[in-house]
Amino acid sequence: MLRTCFATLSLTALLATPLAPAAAAPDPGSPTAGDPYFPGYGNGGYDVRHYDIGLTYDVPTGHLSGDTTVRARATQALSRFNLDLELRPRRAWVDGVRAALSRQGREVTVVPEQPLRRGQVFDVRLTYAGVPGDKGHGYLGGWTETRDGGFAAGEPESATLWFPSNDHPVDKARYDVSVTTDADKDVVSNGTLVSRQDLGDGLATSHWRTRDPMTTYLATVVIGDYEIREGTSAGGTPYLIAINKHLPRDVRASATESVMRTPDVIDFYSRVFGDYPFESAGGIVVRPPIGFALENQTRPIYPGQFFYGPNVSVIAHELAHQWFGDAVSLRRWRDTWLNEGFATWAALRWQAHDGGSSLRREFRRGIRLTTLSGGWGTTIQPAPRGNIFDGAVYNRGSLTLQALRNRVGAATHDRILRTWVVQHRYGHGTTAKFVHLAEHLSGADLGAFFRAWLHTPSEPEHTRANGFPRSMR
Ligand code: ARG
Ligand code: ZN
Repeated sequence: MLRTCFATLSLTALLATPLAPAAAAPDPGSPTAGDPYFPGYGNGGYDVRHYDIGLTYDVPTGHLSGDTTVRARATQALSRFNLDLELRPRRAWVDGVRAALSRQGREVTVVPEQPLRRGQVFDVRLTYAGVPGDKGHGYLGGWTETRDGGFAAGEPESATLWFPSNDHPVDKARYDVSVTTDADKDVVSNGTLVSRQDLGDGLATSHWRTRDPMTTYLATVVIGDYEIREGTSAGGTPYLIAINKHLPRDVRASATESVMRTPDVIDFYSRVFGDYPFESAGGIVVRPPIGFALENQTRPIYPGQFFYGPNVSVIAHELAHQWFGDAVSLRRWRDTWLNEGFATWAALRWQAHDGGSSLRREFRRGIRLTTLSGGWGTTIQPAPRGNIFDGAVYNRGSLTLQALRNRVGAATHDRILRTWVVQHRYGHGTTAKFVHLAEHLSGADLGAFFRAWLHTPSEPEHTRANGFPRSMR
């Protein structure tokens, strides 16, 4: 959501009167969301409200063709605007009228026949095609083609491989995803299955809907052969778990055992962090060893490689992101500790609850490990530019939260986290806002505390003010 200032409001009112002269010439929308970490990501000039994504996926060839309508609101008068997409665009329409189209790299430029007025809500429909599995994003993920289908999973990006978007977390929207593919394949996406329609000729269309605002990198679609388990948690949240049928038998068994803890974990977090923020929960276990798990909204994705034995801690990590990362999103990628530090700490909290070691003990262990690995030189705010997922973002981020708990006390710490979610769910958080909230609710001046933990390339001094318990000082 972008705010309008008073000056612009009155200008708009003036221009709307019938006798007003023509509006100031519309400008092209910016080709970037302005995030210095990833200047290519996102665009300016509009705010997406809804993606209606239509895909046809051919399993044997991995060929995807798309027909997607993006509903957006112009935040300035637009002569043209960009969408992010790496597949080949074919045709575009704006409000049903053919529009000119060009593509350079991941930037698709749409030129509507009539410029768009500031504040105008418009539909841009784009048809496109390509083989997304051919366009790797390397370790960042993207689209992974499999023998039985394929899936989207990647952070900080993956959307450009399957739908045109404003590909930056600053612009959250709602989604409908319809996929037509072989009728014997399962299709799983975020949110809730609205319908599944048999088209004859061995094809079927599955239609999923996400009710709550979601960022582009958290959108997913998974196509393949899956065992689907559905139910409702004791606390009343429906869940859907999908496990790939081609996993080795023992991996499939450990994965199933681990992912089936999902309802327990979300019920626990709901008590600790406040109500589970979305309509549905679950998880998807895929076969290829993509190297990371991802907190896709309502339906995290885990590769089988995480389950050579039971592993609930990765489940607890990705489910914590549903509150920290998904409901409360980043406004800028330099703030990844708000996602990864929080999820790492929350997983320790779950483990302590589930019979594992205490938060105190894990804090002591974390400090010692960071020292042994020579890890204190990396600061996490801002996140390292070359690697926003540096181990320090996870571990030092988690230690920061525990140190804060030690400093302000468990009750105040719980209140800070719950208030954080209530204030920012379905929107965005920043480090400055978190520091402000922590100071406000604790009544303490935490400037030096956060400077030591987030910004200083050395080990925080073992003081009470830095959140070290007496036994460690
Ligand atoms: N957010 C993911 C997690 O929970 C990290 C994904 C890192 N991305 C990547 N492509 N390696 O840990
Ligand atoms: Zn994470």
